[in-house]
Amino acid sequence: MSRPTVYIETYGCQMNVSDSELMYGRLAANGYEPVEGPEGADVILVNTCAIRDHAEQRVIGRLGELRRFMKPGAVLGVAGCMAQRLGPTLLEKARHVSLVVGPDGYRALPALLDGARSGERVTATSFDLEEHYEDFAPRRFDKVKAWIPVQRGCDYRCTYCIVPYTRGAERSRRLDDVVRETEQVVRDGMTEVVLLGQTVNSYHDGAHDFADLLRAVGDVAGIRRIRFTSPHPNDFTDRVIDAIASVPQVCEHVHLPMQSGSSRVLKRMLRRYTREGYAECVRRLRDAIPGVNLTTDIIVGFPGETEADFEETLSLVQEIGFEDAYTFKFSPRDGTPATRMPASETVSDAVASERLERLIATVRAGARERNLRLLGTRHEVLVEREAKRGEMLMARTRDFKTVMIPVEGATVGAYYTVELTGTSGSTFTGAIVRDEPARRLSLPMAASC
Ligand code: 5AD
Ligand code: SF4
Repeated sequence: MSRPTVYIETYGCQMNVSDSELMYGRLAANGYEPVEGPEGADVILVNTCAIRDHAEQRVIGRLGELRRFMKPGAVLGVAGCMAQRLGPTLLEKARHVSLVVGPDGYRALPALLDGARSGERVTATSFDLEEHYEDFAPRRFDKVKAWIPVQRGCDYRCTYCIVPYTRGAERSRRLDDVVRETEQVVRDGMTEVVLLGQTVNSYHDGAHDFADLLRAVGDVAGIRRIRFTSPHPNDFTDRVIDAIASVPQVCEHVHLPMQSGSSRVLKRMLRRYTREGYAECVRRLRDAIPGVNLTTDIIVGFPGETEADFEETLSLVQEIGFEDAYTFKFSPRDGTPATRMPASETVSDAVASERLERLIATVRAGARERNLRLLGTRHEVLVEREAKRGEMLMARTRDFKTVMIPVEGATVGAYYTVELTGTSGSTFTGAIVRDEPARRLSLPMAASC
């Protein structure tokens, strides 16, 4: 009998991408054959995000569409944060869904699917604080860089955020286990790892902190680039900053969620830092890591945010000079403290939209100005994949700039030195510099470019 097929569609953050790789691995080890699309698959899983209402609405729409692809007897399951948040109510909302499984339930997937495939409708949303899926062999989507979860859950309680409720309390993997996975990644031919955690720099396995982890991963022979996402400003101890600065493989890019530039709003968000505290963290990172590139996350329209608060966000964005920012309108999430703030403080959608536009324009203008100044400079890039629009490959510098290079003479997974020849304002085009092998520019020297 042929093996049952499984297709997983992933929404949300990189942690979800990594979880989907683990699910594919688990199911492949249990007799399932991963397939590329939903048409005719025996099992379709949608790995979901709950962070904003918009993310959930997209999934609801998609669940409706997926019904078309289901052959008789096929199972449609919902996994991830939205599954955790809504639990059995999802089964009521969508009658063609027969499995709901939260982020800590993937070990039981084969058994849960046996039940669902024999006609049961099942929900598994218990938290398991010991669960790191250590014995799973992930089936990775990416052939160039590997997502490695090092921590699950979150112990902060930012008042807007659903994640502590969907992913439970913070727990870290053992350092040895992360190192072993990194060694496997190298054996599989990859040279870049991205360490993942909700507040990744608070990593602690009981004996080792994030500084120890960066050093240990850096010691794995064959690893050339280490990235991590996302850190919390309060967890940048001197030890951690020192490790970023001194481990040559750690790239000169920090994604540092700011959320707001107003101390008053930050306090109501329970971010546990002020405007000045955030700026001080940036100063310490910049002092220690020459050329470090900063990106961020910002929310506009948080309850009670005034025009003056918002202008503080704009001014801090300008002062710091982020290379890029993910910007969001506040989205109230049931059960989070922000939803209990007085209704009179709600920022209207029209005001939030207008602020978002101004914020995006400010971020873009700053990035464009800095990027224009980089034309003509040379950088080491790693080619990540074919670009969506023909004849180009998408490559990245160590400090996370996107560079499009011509397909000719370049290979996905290889390192080159490129000269930046043009910019759209946010991304670059580049030409490979043939007389200068990338090897000479890589590692410690490039850290200070
Ligand atoms: N509304 C809008 N944006 C949010 N984020 C988290 N929760 C919400 C919310 N309720 C944003 C934050 C976070 C990023 C992953 O998503 O900026 O850093
Ligand atoms: Fe990732 Fe958070 Fe969305 Fe869950 S809710 S998928 S942890 S971004």
